[in-house]
Amino acid sequence: MIERALLEVADTESLGAALARSVPWAAPQSLTVFLQGALGAGKTTLARGLLRGLGVQGTVRSPTFTLLEGYESAAGRVLHLDLYRLAGGADVASLGLRDELDPGVLLLIEWPERAAGSLPPADLSIELSLAGDGRIARLEGASPVGKAWLAAAAEAWRFQN
Ligand SMILES: Nc1ncnc2c1ncn2[C@@H]1O[C@H](COP(=O)(O)OP(=O)(O)O)[C@@H](O)[C@H]1O
Ligand SMILES: [Mg+2]
Repeated sequence: MIERALLEVADTESLGAALARSVPWAAPQSLTVFLQGALGAGKTTLARGLLRGLGVQGTVRSPTFTLLEGYESAAGRVLHLDLYRLAGGADVASLGLRDELDPGVLLLIEWPERAAGSLPPADLSIELSLAGDGRIARLEGASPVGKAWLAAAAEAWRFQN
C-alpha cells in the first residue's frame, strides 16, 4: 500500500498523470481501477488527471448522470464510470460493460461498491479521503499487473518530486 498526501487539486491531477505514464496496456486483459472515497474526495479529479496524462483533450465530464463516458487515447480506450446513481448491481449489465472487457481497455470506476460482484476485479484500488483542505490517497495493487503498475508509478513520482 502506498499513501500520499495531496495538498491541492494539482497534486490529485499529477497523481493521475503519474499513473497514466505507466499503464500496463500490454496486459492480456482489460485493466480496472476502483476509485473510492466520499462525495467530493477527488475521484473525478484523479480520473481527469489520468485522462489528460494519456493525451485526452477536450472536456472530461463527470459521468454522474450518464454513468459512463468513453475516451480514445493514442495508447488505448478508457471508460470512466460513476456508479453512484446505480440502483442495484443488476443495472450494471445495462451498461454493456461485458462487451468492452478487451485487452487495451482501461476502466476507471467511481463508486464500484454500488455494483459489488458485477464488475471485473480491481487491478488498482485507490481510496481518497479528506485531510484538512487537502486529500490523502491510498493506493493498493490488487493484482500482479496492478502491483507492477503501482511500483512503476511510484518510481516515476520519485523523479517527479
Ligand atoms: N488534493 C486536493 N485538495 C483540495 N481540493 C481538491 C483536491 N483534489 C480535488 N479537489 C477538489 O475537490 C472537489 C471535488 O472533486 P471531485 O473530483 O469532483 O470529487 P469526487 O469525484 O470524489 O466526488 C473539486 O472541487 C476538486 O477540485
Ligand atoms: Mg466524481
